[in-house]
Amino acid sequence: MSRLLLYPFYLLFCFFSLLSGIQTDDLQILMKLKSTFLQTSNTSAFSSWESSNSMCNFTGITCNSDNFVTEIELSNHSLTGVLPLDSICHLQSLEKLSFGFNSLNCPIMGELKNCVSLQYLDLGNNFFMGCSVPDISSLSRLQYLYLNGSKFSGTFPYKSLQNMIGLAHLSLGDNPFNPLPFPKEVLKLTNLTCLYLCSCSIQGTIPAEIGNLKELIYLGLSDNIMTGKIPIEIGNLVNLRELELYNNSFTGKLPVGLRNLTKLEVFDASLNYLEGDLSELRFLNNVVSLYLFENNFSGQVPSEFGKFKKLVSLSIYSNSFTGALPQELGSLAKFDFIDASENFFIGPIPPNMCKQGTMRGLLMLQNNLTGEIPASYANCSTLLRFRVRNNSLSGSVPAGIWGLPNVNIIDIALNRIHGPITSDIKNAKFLVQLFAENNRLSGELPAEISEATSLISIYLNDNQLSGSIQQLPTSLLSFLISNNRLTGEIPHSICNASFLQLLDISNNSLSGKIPKCLGNFCDNLLVMNLQMNNFHGTIPDTFANCYQLRTLVFNGNQLEGLLPKSLVNCKNLEVLDLGNNKINDRFPYWLEALPNLHVLVLKSNRFYGPIGNHNTSGIFFPKLRILDLSHNEFSGLLPRYYFENLNAMMINEDSKHEPQYLGEIFYYQDSVVLTVKGLEIKLQRILTIFTTIDFSSNKFEGEIPKELGRLIILRLLNLSHNSLTNHIPSSLENLSQLESLDLSSNRLTGQIPIQLTSLTFLAKLNLSRNKLTGPIPQGKQFGTFENDSYYDNLGLCGLPLQINCSTNDLLPPPLLLIFEEDNDSIFASGFSWRVVLMGYGCGFLVGLAMGCVVFKRGSPQWLLRFVEGDRNGKMRRHNNPRSRKRRN
Ligand SMILES: *[C@@H]1O[C@H](CO)[C@@H](O)[C@H](O)[C@H]1NC(C)=O
Ligand SMILES: *[C@@H]1O[C@H](CO)[C@@H](O)[C@H](O)[C@H]1NC(C)=O
Ligand SMILES: *[C@@H]1O[C@H](CO)[C@@H](O)[C@H](O)[C@H]1NC(C)=O
Ligand SMILES: *[C@@H]1O[C@H](CO)[C@@H](O)[C@H](O)[C@H]1NC(C)=O
Ligand SMILES: *[C@@H]1O[C@H](CO)[C@@H](O)[C@H](O)[C@H]1NC(C)=O
Ligand SMILES: *[C@@H]1O[C@H](CO)[C@@H](O)[C@H](O)[C@H]1NC(C)=O
Ligand SMILES: *[C@@H]1O[C@H](CO)[C@@H](O)[C@H](O)[C@H]1NC(C)=O
Ligand SMILES: *[C@@H]1O[C@H](CO)[C@@H](O)[C@H](O)[C@H]1NC(C)=O
Ligand SMILES: *[C@@H]1O[C@H](CO)[C@@H](O)[C@H](O)[C@H]1NC(C)=O
Repeated sequence: MSRLLLYPFYLLFCFFSLLSGIQTDDLQILMKLKSTFLQTSNTSAFSSWESSNSMCNFTGITCNSDNFVTEIELSNHSLTGVLPLDSICHLQSLEKLSFGFNSLNCPIMGELKNCVSLQYLDLGNNFFMGCSVPDISSLSRLQYLYLNGSKFSGTFPYKSLQNMIGLAHLSLGDNPFNPLPFPKEVLKLTNLTCLYLCSCSIQGTIPAEIGNLKELIYLGLSDNIMTGKIPIEIGNLVNLRELELYNNSFTGKLPVGLRNLTKLEVFDASLNYLEGDLSELRFLNNVVSLYLFENNFSGQVPSEFGKFKKLVSLSIYSNSFTGALPQELGSLAKFDFIDASENFFIGPIPPNMCKQGTMRGLLMLQNNLTGEIPASYANCSTLLRFRVRNNSLSGSVPAGIWGLPNVNIIDIALNRIHGPITSDIKNAKFLVQLFAENNRLSGELPAEISEATSLISIYLNDNQLSGSIQQLPTSLLSFLISNNRLTGEIPHSICNASFLQLLDISNNSLSGKIPKCLGNFCDNLLVMNLQMNNFHGTIPDTFANCYQLRTLVFNGNQLEGLLPKSLVNCKNLEVLDLGNNKINDRFPYWLEALPNLHVLVLKSNRFYGPIGNHNTSGIFFPKLRILDLSHNEFSGLLPRYYFENLNAMMINEDSKHEPQYLGEIFYYQDSVVLTVKGLEIKLQRILTIFTTIDFSSNKFEGEIPKELGRLIILRLLNLSHNSLTNHIPSSLENLSQLESLDLSSNRLTGQIPIQLTSLTFLAKLNLSRNKLTGPIPQGKQFGTFENDSYYDNLGLCGLPLQINCSTNDLLPPPLLLIFEEDNDSIFASGFSWRVVLMGYGCGFLVGLAMGCVVFKRGSPQWLLRFVEGDRNGKMRRHNNPRSRKRRN
């Protein structure tokens, strides 16, 4: 009928074509198409397109009974180059044109104007970068339009949809169109069953008229810039099977109408600002996948979810859900995957989720779940990810869980789980990451762990493990078992773990010598932390290949002898902490050329002799910020030229930007124990803005060089317990960040320089046990110091001492009032001690009270997702809504 109507035009067209010599024969057109594409494409699509063959038998060609071409279906045939629409649209009977999933590009030759019979047009999934959509306004018979994923730009011509009242599929998503509100024209297309408008810059609200599109089976609006509430009229779309609203800015509660959508199988409203409870979803009996993560939903998960027989995946992490998870959850379902992390769930882990033998992922990190890990999970042979980090789980791990045959990640860290790691771990042939730190695990590390040959990470720090370390898997990259009760020696077998990057066995009772072979795997090593054990003997001189090494900590052992010279090869060394040993050597000036050394701690050893009595290389510890030489037997003058040249302590990189921390690798954090204001504290993360010099308790003599005043970002200066003489240099007034100054127990003379009152961050001052005289400066910070800052001097006078100064001693009137307020602002300002300590996390008293705030705000992402199996855990939002990867 329709073709008949067009017939006169056809004749007319043929006539003109003949006149102009254009070949309109369908075969000729196809042969031209072939030759066009063969010039640009490496394709086998046209191998059957030979004149020996009937045109209607060509691959991808369909004809009608009159032998006119009606369909060209050449999708996914590696076609590249330009699409010659001009000749294609001379095919008079063409109803279907399909070039999806090729690599066609701009420009598009010719127009669609003549393709008036088209019912099906697929130009999706090509590379039309920089092209606008061709004019489609004449395609009034179109039923299927796919332009998705082709990188079209410009403004989509929604007006041209007006005539396409028969349109069933409209797919415009994944194109960088100019932003527009939800197109009115679409709301009239009442025959639509499939509407894909994801990621094509739709802004504003979903109009209520969406309820007109009653035939919709699929509605995709993800990855747009939409706002407002989900309209109640969505409840009219009773045929919907899939509703995707992911990654917009929708607000408010789920609308009442949702309960109507009983055919819904996939509902994704993740990454919005939705709130309220899920009671509207109680009736979605056919739901297969429910993604609601990263909203602010609250209330309990409806118990009806436990009866959704088809439920396969449930991802509700990062909301504010409370109560217990429905205990029936998954017991009837073909459950594959649940991520309920980062909520406020309490109560036990539902026991039956593995019953059907389909469960692969159980993620419930960071809730407040209690009770034991259900014994039934020990049979969960399908389980790949078992992650319950950071809850309040107790009991022991049921036998069998350690050895789950397919599991990749076991993460039970930060709970109260006790009992042993059992030898069945040898069955966990696919176990890659084992996180069980911060629990109460006891017993020995079973030697069978070496048979878990896929293991690359073992985190067992902060438990109560005892016995000795035996065999380890040779595949290991990270082995952290600090803060346990291990005894015995480091096994030589550890040296077979030649990929090891992170070794932290600190805070145990390990003994013996440090095995020489540790140098064998130095090529990969980033961190070696052996501190707080009982190792003795010398440090082996095997660091020649440790180019990657960033952190080396031997603090708190019985090590003796010389510092190994091969350390000079560790060009990436950032932290070298050898404190609290018995090392007997001169100052290692040969380390001064290490370009990245931030932290050098040699305190409490038997170092001796002068510092800097050598020909220098002209490079003076260019990054050094923490230098602790205290409690040794260094002698001679203070090293003036270091004070002139320690550049990293001079540059005030205005810390507007985020504080940076040294040495964050996965869950490991560098830490250094320093004496801060008289307290030994463990700095868990070493802020790169932290700067300190501690030369206390040595035999330094002579004066304090005025050049010390150049280290203007120093926060801590301790020169106490030496034999320093002469005056306190007034240049110390330049240390404007200084928070603690201890010059006590020396032989300093003269007056306290009044300039020191300008040190407004100074919270602790100790000048006691010297030979100082004259009036104590008054005002500003000095108003806050007590007697003990000054006692045992020759002749100090004035407040806070009870000794009045004679009139000769009187200084200008004190500036008392001005800094009353600053007392508070010290601690409120970004440079105060408390803030610094907060950065170090929860190891210290102040940190405990306040530090966790920063910890919580700054790091859930780091804490939770950093060590995902694929290490892409940092990516929370995923780009392609159609192929969303699950969080592992
Ligand atoms: C064409 O494709 C085939 C198979 O896809 C491949 O082996 C061949 O190398 C390609 N030729 C060119 C020139 O790219
Ligand atoms: C198409 O090919 C088949 C065999 O593949 C043949 O039987 C048939 O005759 C051909 N049709 C035409 C119209 O050539
Ligand atoms: C394209 O064809 C290849 C095989 O030639 C197939 O593996 C792939 O899944 C197809 N892609 C689409 C999107 O159909
Ligand atoms: C995107 O376009 C392809 C054809 O290029 C089509 O097969 C697919 O269904 C479309 N995707 C959606 C979500 O509409
Ligand atoms: C809409 O769809 C129905 C049922 O598929 C069909 O009968 C009707 O012709 C379509 N309307 C238009 C305008 O194509
Ligand atoms: C639910 O569907 C019924 C028809 O099945 C309709 O009358 C009602 O208005 C719908 N409710 C909402 C809130 O859309
Ligand atoms: C999230 O919801 C809870 C409970 O409804 C509410 O207390 C909290 O303020 C909300 N948070 C945000 C960020 O909106
Ligand atoms: C977790 O629950 C226990 C009691 O079950 C409670 O004492 C504790 O305060 C809760 N912790 C948090 C962080 O909510
Ligand atoms: C969210 O959508 C925007 C486009 O509106 C896109 O740029 C962004 O990458 C998406 N984010 C995620 C996590 O998918």
